[in-house]
Amino acid sequence: MPPEISLLLDRSESYVAQNRRADKKQSLLRGRTIINLFFEASTRTRTSFELAGKRLGADVINMSVSTSSVRKGETVIDTAMTLNAMHPDVLIVRHPESGAVKLLSEKVNCAVINAGDGSHEHPTQALLDALTIRRRKGRLDGLKVAICGDILHSRVARSNIHLLNIMGARVRVVAPRTLLPRAVERLGVEVYHDMGEGLAGCDIVMMLRLQTERMQGNYFPSIREYFHFFGLDYEKLGRASAEALIMHPGPMNRGVEIDSLVADDYGRSVIREQVEMGVAVRMACLELLTGDPAGGDRGNI
Ligand code: CP
Repeated sequence: MPPEISLLLDRSESYVAQNRRADKKQSLLRGRTIINLFFEASTRTRTSFELAGKRLGADVINMSVSTSSVRKGETVIDTAMTLNAMHPDVLIVRHPESGAVKLLSEKVNCAVINAGDGSHEHPTQALLDALTIRRRKGRLDGLKVAICGDILHSRVARSNIHLLNIMGARVRVVAPRTLLPRAVERLGVEVYHDMGEGLAGCDIVMMLRLQTERMQGNYFPSIREYFHFFGLDYEKLGRASAEALIMHPGPMNRGVEIDSLVADDYGRSVIREQVEMGVAVRMACLELLTGDPAGGDRGNI
């Protein structure tokens, strides 16, 4: 709901300031235990959740799945129930299968944060993207946002479409037909297959990585052709608003979905700012889920 999202973004603002100070630490979550449980690779999300927990004074454990008993055949659910028996306050979970995090959350009695499940959702990414946009543009309502590239496999796209629609933005998706989910317009987006048309007049241009690890078969003739038609360069960007922001959740594949010159144009590219906002947003999520010791039911994000 808009008020809940606005509250979380407002709380994140105070953490942006805290994270820019020399002393970044406070003791709000002293005594709380957070476990990072990542069944899929991550740089930004895992590190920022670890930093977020530590800066709030919690104990943070990074479970190394590759050296855990998962390698001996223990299931995801049994792994989660085993960790739950050690009384963590929050499990932060990333998993390659859509729906796995929800399933796991039903088997434990601590709070669970979805750090990305398959092609389904990546809610804290959408929140950090919203914070980045709101800080730069002063609002989300009424903005024209183009999300471009591999929509089909992107949990970032789904979470952003959901959040941006709730907050009153107008969302477009721009992609080849092969990289769009069936009936994508039912998600509340305008659909384009041409970058020039899709980017025309947009306030935000959000590029997505080709998720080749989730692809079976051929979705486009070649990387070269994909970049020619769908890679963001200055020529295509010229169709967007002159003040349009360039965004990418990372990791980027330079020369595939985005040209290096555009990615590194720090007048307009906010890609590094997105990473910074990730820590602040995740601090706010941890605070709101665990900050009140007398709080009622556990929550999930
Ligand atoms: N954006 C994002 O989720 O990045 P990581 O895969 O590095 O966590």
